[in-house]
Amino acid sequence: MAMSTVGYEIDGEVAVLTVEYPPVNALSAAVRTGLGEALERARSDAAVRAVVILGGGKTFIAGADITEFGTDKSKVKPSLQDIQTVLEGFPKLTIAAIHGTALGGGLELALTCHARVAVPAARVGLPEVNLGLLPGAGGTQRLPRLTGVEVGIDLITSGKHIPSQQALALGVIDAIVDDVRSGAVAYAREALAKGISFVPVIERNDKVTGIDAAVFAAARKQVGAKARGKIAPMVIIDCIEAACTRSAAEGLVYEKERFQELFASDQRAALMHYFFAERQARKIPGIPADVKPKPIQSCAIIGAGTMGGGIAMTFANAGIPVTLLDLDQASLDRGLGVVRNNYGISVSRGSISQEKMDSALALITPTLAYDDLATCDIVIEAALERMDIKKEIFFRLDGLMKPGAILASNTSYLSIDEIASVTSRPGDVVGCHFFSPANVMKLLENVRSASTSDETIITVMEMGKMIGKVPVLARNADGFIGNRMLQYYTGEAEFLLEQGATPEQIDRVATRFGMAMGPMSMRDMAGMDMAVVSRKGRAASIPAGERVSPIVERLVEAGRYGQKTAKGFYRYEGREKFSDPEAIAIIESVSKEFGITRREFTDDEVEARLFAPLVNEGAKEIEDGTAIRASDIDVAWVNGYGFPVHRGGPMFWGEKYGLDRIYQMALDAAERNGPRWAPGKLLERLAKEGKGWDAA
Ligand code: CAA
Repeated sequence: MAMSTVGYEIDGEVAVLTVEYPPVNALSAAVRTGLGEALERARSDAAVRAVVILGGGKTFIAGADITEFGTDKSKVKPSLQDIQTVLEGFPKLTIAAIHGTALGGGLELALTCHARVAVPAARVGLPEVNLGLLPGAGGTQRLPRLTGVEVGIDLITSGKHIPSQQALALGVIDAIVDDVRSGAVAYAREALAKGISFVPVIERNDKVTGIDAAVFAAARKQVGAKARGKIAPMVIIDCIEAACTRSAAEGLVYEKERFQELFASDQRAALMHYFFAERQARKIPGIPADVKPKPIQSCAIIGAGTMGGGIAMTFANAGIPVTLLDLDQASLDRGLGVVRNNYGISVSRGSISQEKMDSALALITPTLAYDDLATCDIVIEAALERMDIKKEIFFRLDGLMKPGAILASNTSYLSIDEIASVTSRPGDVVGCHFFSPANVMKLLENVRSASTSDETIITVMEMGKMIGKVPVLARNADGFIGNRMLQYYTGEAEFLLEQGATPEQIDRVATRFGMAMGPMSMRDMAGMDMAVVSRKGRAASIPAGERVSPIVERLVEAGRYGQKTAKGFYRYEGREKFSDPEAIAIIESVSKEFGITRREFTDDEVEARLFAPLVNEGAKEIEDGTAIRASDIDVAWVNGYGFPVHRGGPMFWGEKYGLDRIYQMALDAAERNGPRWAPGKLLERLAKEGKGWDAA
């Protein structure tokens, strides 16, 4: 007989059921079967008066087994709901004993126990929304019965994990215990001794009775504004409303129906793709398993500007001491002032506590002396984007840093190979490209040169996770993964303007799609003068015969730099923006100058034109090895460029849209704009064979 996934031990009158299903004790068919059997055993064991359910290893149950979704295994009985029915009607006391995380179906299972206890470091949550789902095992019906409706809406629509203390205060758990197992057993004994009778959560109606409909209207407005087109959060509100307006039995049926609707949605497929993509991105083929990351316990940063300051905050937030260097006291003071101010804003918004701010600031040591950096485990250079300056710095670091230290550059497009060439230790040199604002944006684009060592690569990937970023590995190439693609997105947006689309239409389509911001508004915000400078700097790399729209240059010539001059693609009054006939006239004059006939575009046409070039360039990155796999590109775009996660990323979107159509569009684009826009060999092959990225 196969080893059971659920251990059964007797501790006096308490049966301890331990789920053993690494890595996260997900509720696989095997675990459900094991739990069903163990519960029957406890039921028929006359000496047992209480049951404690516990997770083996480092966590309680982290939810349904996502790898079984949609497979026959997910249909194996007992279902999670069957087990919950058993638990809710169990004739003996049942206690969920939580350590690590109780997430999704794991927490929902715990909500059908009579009581829940957790260790101080545990966290609980219903994160299904992040997979485009709702907690379909009664989570929307039971959690609000404990926390009240408003908190329930907040927790389930955000999917956040909350720590034990907060869970206790909100009524999600009943007690905090020091040791998960003995604490839960003691809790059970005491409850038995006192003869406490627990009312099943589903029967506790006081917090879901008499709720004003206005509560839901307000929630829909607030959550809807943040959802950017995601459907699951709105459906969750419907279900919580049903918990308040229907009987418990009807509410559970309604929740199940809505779960199935979400399960069948494209957004669910995209979000699940993204979940695995993010984890896959950390796996680097070809690196032997015995290569281990080096410890990163201290960090040095060169340059206290916007990037350097943001990076310093990131490390300090993760509890890692930072030495922040700049060349003169004034720059250092200015940089630290910005850091302090940013923390202050977070404190005033309530997103961090004053103590957290103080402890983070205490970890940042400013300095003017290079010698202070020498013993740090990693140094990240965030100086000006000029190769001569970078080389000078790396030459100096080579002579200074302790052996084995990682020497990283935050450059967004300069060659890591060239930077590494001035050192005697190119194996330790790597790109660590953070995105602005670095303390907020999740993407860490790590860049390996031809000589970066496996150990260095593994270290910066591991470090990314440790500091709360989502790391992706790129090979050295102009613009790496993300920025290399970005120029085609913004470039096509400008060509669309020349052909007759308006800034409003393009931005509307992009935000309808779910982008955080449209490309024209993005340019206005970043400042078009900056774009012109960077385009001039890169002009040499643009081959002859390539069209680059001069619209941005023309706007700058007319003093329209964007928000900073209150006019760019739009006209601004404070933070409000308006369509501006003057900008349109400039755009139209460019169309005329190049003999381009302006026409109307449908929104769908604009959408496809905006995103298809990303897919084409992404395919070329897979082809030339800049990106390891298509899903890494998705991870980069979701976390660094505001691409909507519920679309799965540009490559996932492209495959769904049809690689054959993308291929055809690339041929057309090349005709209009020049050979750089032409499809690569990989896209051509996949399009012709009717295959997806799996066959890349
Ligand atoms: N099912 C199957 N595998 C899972 C899983 C799950 N629910 N959660 C995590 N894993 C796997 C990961 O894919 C990863 O596998 P590999 O090592 O092969 O890549 C491994 O477990 C470790 O995961 P992480 O790298 O994420 O480890 P971590 O320690 O950083 O985080 C975690 C652990 C907090 C549990 C995190 O994995 C997580 O958030 N998991 C998802 C939890 C979740 O969404 N649960 C709800 C599921 S849906 C549901 O329950 C529906 C319902 O209502 C019935």
